Amino acid sequence: MADRIPVIVRETRPEDFDAIIEMCRSVYSSNHPWTAEQLASHHRVFPAGQFVALDAVSGEMLGMSASLIILWDDYEPQGEWRGFTDRGMFTNHDPEYGRTLYGAEVMALPSAQGRGIGTALYKARREVVERLGLLRIRAGSRLRGYGTYAKELTPEAYVLRVVRNELFDPTLSFQLRRGFHVIDVVGRYLRHDEESLGYAATIQWLNSAVAKPEDYGTANPAFRPYVPTE
Ligand SMILES: CC(C)(COP(=O)(O)OP(=O)(O)OC[C@H]1O[C@@H](n2cnc3c(N)ncnc32)[C@H](O)[C@@H]1OP(=O)(O)O)[C@@H](O)C(=O)NCCC(=O)NCCS
Repeated sequence: MADRIPVIVRETRPEDFDAIIEMCRSVYSSNHPWTAEQLASHHRVFPAGQFVALDAVSGEMLGMSASLIILWDDYEPQGEWRGFTDRGMFTNHDPEYGRTLYGAEVMALPSAQGRGIGTALYKARREVVERLGLLRIRAGSRLRGYGTYAKELTPEAYVLRVVRNELFDPTLSFQLRRGFHVIDVVGRYLRHDEESLGYAATIQWLNSAVAKPEDYGTANPAFRPYVPTE
């Protein structure tokens, strides 16, 4: 990996919104960028779940993440991103009954990718889960490299090869190395995403301080069983 860029990770503030929207445009070619209305809603319902990563020297916006708390059983496991996030507004945020931090977004500026920004944002996310005593983080990992293999591999076969470290996926490989495991593969997760063709792997990170043995099972037995290391 290229040298890490020293960053400050802090909670997102309204004055960050313009820079986030600008960064979105450079990260995603085919998805709509976050709107100021959505970012303001995140800030209103769950400020502790929203982070930006800023260059520690220049203050430049280099990355962001957005999350909410959900009661997982309220949702179809094969559901779309827009359902888990209430069309990106997070108004379904449920701190009273939810035990799952849902990772709705994480991104790093393309020119700064591979230099530790995503890792720093995930660390902040795990700290939220630990501080609030939540059970886990779940998210849909958009299979950014799948489009290239779609003619030869099913999405499930592609994910298995990434899990076995035989293929590198720019998103899923990163998340697996941050302690996540795959529990399922879903289609139509991000309908307009050209790179993943809409496919995502549902991924999970468990808070070992509160997880019970039964929480470590995987929903889809095709994926390698997860064995906690701590
Ligand atoms: C996924 C993403 C947030 C990761 O952030 P990042 O700042 O690049 O991540 P890091 O630098 O902390 O770690 C990246 C890892 O991938 C490796 N890597 C190799 N080539 C890379 C590349 N071209 N770009 C990014 N990472 C690369 C790095 O070496 C590092 O490996 P490690 O696990 O050994 O540390 C970022 O790539 C991104 O913004 N992607 C586009 C948006 C997206 O798809 N988000 C996820 C939505 S589900």
